[in-house]
Order: sequence, then structure tokens, then C-alpha cells
Amino acid sequence: MAVTRIAPMGWVEIRTATPVDHDWILGLAEGLFIDLGNYREILGDWLVAPRAEAIIATGGDERLGFAVVAPRPRIGFLRRCGSELVAIAVVERVRRGGIARRLIGEAQQRAIAFGAREMRLHTAESNEVGQALFRDCGFRSKRGLPVFYPSGVRALEFGAALEPAAESSSSR
Ligand SMILES: CC(C)(COP(=O)(O)OP(=O)(O)OC[C@H]1O[C@@H](n2cnc3c(N)ncnc32)[C@H](O)[C@@H]1OP(=O)(O)O)[C@@H](O)C(=O)NCCC(=O)NCCS
Repeated sequence: MAVTRIAPMGWVEIRTATPVDHDWILGLAEGLFIDLGNYREILGDWLVAPRAEAIIATGGDERLGFAVVAPRPRIGFLRRCGSELVAIAVVERVRRGGIARRLIGEAQQRAIAFGAREMRLHTAESNEVGQALFRDCGFRSKRGLPVFYPSGVRALEFGAALEPAAESSSSR
């Protein structure tokens, strides 16, 4: 029986995705989110959106996961800049190794860099693993109007404040 060696975490790198990665990202998303809508089309539009950023986790030459983050349009009274974690996924055989947690950490740094003070995201009401991940990463569920994926599946919204790193006190 072939043994699949899972890359130890020290091996995993997070980098900006390039157009060469897009088809791999869309293939993974299309399969995983098939119950939610046409994610090849939905995420394909995000990947070419001017201000969206896609990041990818790799182990050696192998792609292991991705996340997409984008500025969130400002609506309502609060003028604070926000961000949306549009999608995140990790290939099945390397799950539960902390890759998604690292992708979220990097996505949050990217959002802070474009000025966001908050990150929001949606996940399916039935996606208990996704909800466990987001709670583990400090997100809390938001109460608001019901939101649905294009397929009609109900979505839950989560949010987390983003804290820019404090100035080092040693420079005083
Ligand atoms: C959700 C997903 C991205 C998690 O990726 P991952 O790399 O396995 O997650 P991590 O190893 O970083 O997990 C971090 C924490 O999330 C929680 N978590 C992750 N997977 C879990 C599971 N199967 N059951 C319970 N909690 C889980 C745990 O608190 C975990 O910390 P711990 O392992 O120290 O207990 C992955 O399962 C996936 O790609 N699922 C399909 C796509 C999806 O649902 N995306 C999210 C909605 S958009």
C-alpha cells in the first residue's frame, strides 16, 4: 500500500497566488462548494477582481490550500474599512495540521495592510467544521438578515476585529 507522506508543518509555505495557480484553486473550490453554487464562476470573478488577494499554501512543489480575501464595500453608518474572507480550503489529506489557521493569519495580515479593521466571512449553516475553524481563529457569529448562497443553502456570517500590531515599546 502506498504511504502518503504528509509534509510536516515546518515545510508549509504561504505565498501570493499567481494566475498559474488559478485553475487549481478553482478546481478545488468547485468540488468542495458544489452544494453552494457555481464556485468556478463565483471564485473565478474574485480571482481577477482588482483588489482581491489570493494566497496559497504549498509543501515543496505541492499546493495544499488557498484563501481569498478582499476589501468589503462600506455600507451603513460605520465608515470603518472592512474585509471579507471570500473562501478558504485545504486538501483533504493534509487537514487538521494547522494550514487553514495559517492561511487565516496571513489573510488577516493582508487585510490589515489594506487598512481593514474587521474581517467577515460566510459559511454554510451545515458546515460545522468551517464554523469550528472560524471560532478557533477568534471569529464570532453575527446576527443579521438571513443570507443565502446562490443554491439556496443558508449561510451564517462571522466576524472578527483586526488589530494592527502595536508599535514596539523597545524603540522608546
Ligand atoms: C475547514 C478547513 C479549511 C479546515 O482546514 P484545516 O487545515 O484542516 O484546519 P486547521 O488544521 O488549521 O484547524 C484549526 C482549528 O480549526 C478547528 N477544526 C478544523 N478542522 C476541524 C474538524 N474536522 N473538526 C473539529 N474542529 C476542526 C480546530 O479547532 C482546529 O484546531 P486543532 O486542530 O488544534 O483542534 C478544511 O476542513 C476544508 O478545506 N474544508 C472544506 C472547505 C470548507 O469548508 N471551507 C470553510 C468554509 S468557506
